[in-house]
Amino acid sequence: MAASPRREIDVLLHEGRRVEPPEDFRREARVSDRTPYRRAGEDRLAFWEERARELDWFEEWDEVLNWDPPHAEWFVGGRLNAAHNCLDRHLDGWRANKAALIWEGEPGDRRTYTYRELHREVSRLANGMKEMGVEKGDRVAIYLPMIPEAAVAMLACARIGAVHSVVFGGFSPGSLRSRIQDAGAELLITATGGYRRGNVLRLKRDADEAIEGLDVVENVIVVRRGFSAEGDETFARMQEGRDHWYEDVVGEASPKCPAEPMASEDLLYILYTSGTTGKPKGVMHTTGGYMTQVQATTEWVFDLKEEDVYWCTADVGWVTGHSYIVYGPLAAGATVFMYEGAPDWPERDRFWELVERYGVSILYTAPTAIRAFMKWGEEWPEKHDLSSLRLLGTVGEPINPEAWEWYREHIGGGECPIVDTWWQTETGGIMITPLPGVTTTKPGSATEPFPGIEAAILDDDGNEAESGYLAITEPWPSMLRGVWGDEERFRETYWSKWDDTYFPGDGARVDGDGDFWILGRVDDVLNVAGHRIGTMEVESAVVDHPATAEAAVVGRKDEVKGEAIAAFVSLKEGYEASDGLQEEIREHVGQEIGAIAKPADVIFTADLPKTRSGKIMRRLLKDIAEGEALGDTTTLADPDVVERLKQKYEEGG
Ligand code: PRX
Repeated sequence: MAASPRREIDVLLHEGRRVEPPEDFRREARVSDRTPYRRAGEDRLAFWEERARELDWFEEWDEVLNWDPPHAEWFVGGRLNAAHNCLDRHLDGWRANKAALIWEGEPGDRRTYTYRELHREVSRLANGMKEMGVEKGDRVAIYLPMIPEAAVAMLACARIGAVHSVVFGGFSPGSLRSRIQDAGAELLITATGGYRRGNVLRLKRDADEAIEGLDVVENVIVVRRGFSAEGDETFARMQEGRDHWYEDVVGEASPKCPAEPMASEDLLYILYTSGTTGKPKGVMHTTGGYMTQVQATTEWVFDLKEEDVYWCTADVGWVTGHSYIVYGPLAAGATVFMYEGAPDWPERDRFWELVERYGVSILYTAPTAIRAFMKWGEEWPEKHDLSSLRLLGTVGEPINPEAWEWYREHIGGGECPIVDTWWQTETGGIMITPLPGVTTTKPGSATEPFPGIEAAILDDDGNEAESGYLAITEPWPSMLRGVWGDEERFRETYWSKWDDTYFPGDGARVDGDGDFWILGRVDDVLNVAGHRIGTMEVESAVVDHPATAEAAVVGRKDEVKGEAIAAFVSLKEGYEASDGLQEEIREHVGQEIGAIAKPADVIFTADLPKTRSGKIMRRLLKDIAEGEALGDTTTLADPDVVERLKQKYEEGG
């Protein structure tokens, strides 16, 4: 499947517009000229070695890189601890009393942790986990809302060398269950609930359902957050011997817990992400290389200064939350702002109210959010003083130039540089991005590889091309080290297209200045509101509904979400297409995977259009979902139209 042709046209139209870094920004920037690019160009490994020295190591490495494709080891022989780098090393001087984490809950409750306080809390939880028998290398699942305890739990794992697997709180019990099983997690950290648009999500109840009858999970730690107004007891049904209140665990534990000296290549975490098969894959990240790259990119891409208040709006359940809420910014000693809820609760200016209240200076968000803000109108940001902002970032999907311009104008006051950062769960850290004091930006382009990253546009045969597939041609420190329990899938997905070159699955184009324009996924992975969802996963959930005979899922263009899910469904004998059934199927997918995977459209069709060899014609379905080719009802694809389009495709190729 090819990347979106619309995006390609957009790219061609907007190549000309250029925005230079403002002179005063450049003057003050941490990187203000091309020296790092030159340095990395001369000696890439020496460059990364210099970046690694910005971390605190217990033992130095003997070898920078051991590259045995597709396996890389970075800083071999070195020893360090991620939590030590995020906390302990900031305690020597005045930073100990600097705010590490400023948090606001959706109902308006507020908390601040200094580095000293965060260190203490993490150490206590780490000790509490040890008491439960959690040891180095053991897996711990984390299923929490956006509360400080999420960061605390991750760092507590890192402190004792346990491997965390954070599962986004919006995922269903079934999704949580399969991730816990796959990773073999023996401890689960969750909360009674979390707030979203005034409602309380019932996390503990979902967690109970997820681990029902699972022997692996020996203990559950439960944070008290949000109970139902009606006093519904299922919110906090505690199982004797298995479930423990977080406050008790932390309250009884000592605040002294030495950080485990981890080998550079010891696992830091597993994070599940969607691919082209039905089963999400557990992407593995290790310690030394990952920490090196997330710290370096946080400092340079966001031009992080001691006095900044930095806000990344992602959820900790995604990689952006791992690398750019927790590990990168805390390693860099930043003040991180974290918010629990939705941007439109109670009103559509909640984000701008927060920026004003906390004096946020760096804001990192997703194009889908920016497009929603655009739709809501500039009157919402205009109500607030946003002059504290000095840098804006985006991530997660291609940004359309209109949204880029709107962001710059209405949020950045026409002055803040914008960094459009391309990367993935698998890359661990930012890969293609402007450096805000150096790079001339273009709305819609992620511009150039970060120093020390080697990227190219290749065709199917591995030849350089102007338009084709994005490729990473050399190993990088924060690269994935594998897929948990599935070496074959690791090799097949990422390393089988070309020799010793990483295939990210994105289409891209390079312009005359050498700037990269990411065109979108070229595989069956959807990007809905910046969230990665596999078409196969949604298909199996749709087919799981008793009325469904067969299903095909495609992404169609959506003004706000970028892509929306359209499910084409043929029904079993005896079932009638109806609005009710449509809604039932949507709900069913929501229950199977999570609300983010609910199809926007369910389109009933007598047959799914297939090629003579029986392959579903997804392109055709996409056209039907996006266009006028639908019959007069939106629920039913007109068989003639499908037939005609199918013929056209078969003739036209
Ligand atoms: O298609 C690319 C898109 O998001 C995919 C990675 O998704 P995930 O692993 O969930 O990580 C998202 C956050 C890092 C990529 O394959 N993507 C991410 N950033 C950009 C992007 N597409 C275009 N421009 C970006 N800046």
